[in-house]
Amino acid sequence: MDLVHPAVNGYLQNLAAVDDEPVLLEMEQHAEENDFPIVGRLCGRVLELLARSIGARRIFEMGSGYGYSAYWFSRATGEEGEIHLTDTDAGNERKARDFLSRAGLDAPIDYHVAPAFEAFEETSGDFDIVYCDIDKDGYPEAWERAKGRIRVGGLFICDNMLWFGRVTGAPDAPADIKEGYTEAIAATNRAITDDPSYRSIIIPLRDGLIVALRIS
Ligand SMILES: C[S@@+](CC[C@H](N)C(=O)[O-])C[C@H]1O[C@@H](n2cnc3c(N)ncnc32)[C@H](O)[C@@H]1O
Repeated sequence: MDLVHPAVNGYLQNLAAVDDEPVLLEMEQHAEENDFPIVGRLCGRVLELLARSIGARRIFEMGSGYGYSAYWFSRATGEEGEIHLTDTDAGNERKARDFLSRAGLDAPIDYHVAPAFEAFEETSGDFDIVYCDIDKDGYPEAWERAKGRIRVGGLFICDNMLWFGRVTGAPDAPADIKEGYTEAIAATNRAITDDPSYRSIIIPLRDGLIVALRIS
């Protein structure tokens, strides 16, 4: 299910071509060729914009792949940032280091090859942003763990919150790729939206990006 009309998406992508640069294009081509689910150019620009808008310095990513989302966060924090990346696949760390160093964006990166929750518990302190993009059955727990460790004025951001329309229950939504994923995402959307300490909205770009601002 296309969340954005293809013509509108094309228009937005054309505008976003302003960010074309060789390493970014290489990262996007790598996703295309390997069918790897990166957050994409438009949501990437949203990540950078959000991080810049709150002056984010300390960021924790749950599920980083080869560093595409981190590319955008690093643009926002600059070298003074502290961006924790997590993934269980050591090959992704190698690729991330290669891409991000060639882009000149590796200075703030601290890559943990480990399950996201384990690395999160081992990394002390609160964060300006926690970004979640792990396997979808982990979303409710990611929110539970993260929500108390984001500073007031900080953000919880999570990708795939519309799950290509599956959360709507619409008859033309695709079948789930794994039992329980849709329910886990829908429960997380409900929990975030109902939390009085956060104000949130799902931006219906690509696969839906929830942005939740901690207000108390
Ligand atoms: C959707 S991809 C990440 C894409 C990345 N955030 C981006 O936009 O480019 C999800 C990644 O998370 C990793 N992953 C999934 N569940 C995880 C978990 N519980 N802990 C750590 N990594 C996990 C997978 O190995 C995969 O590389």
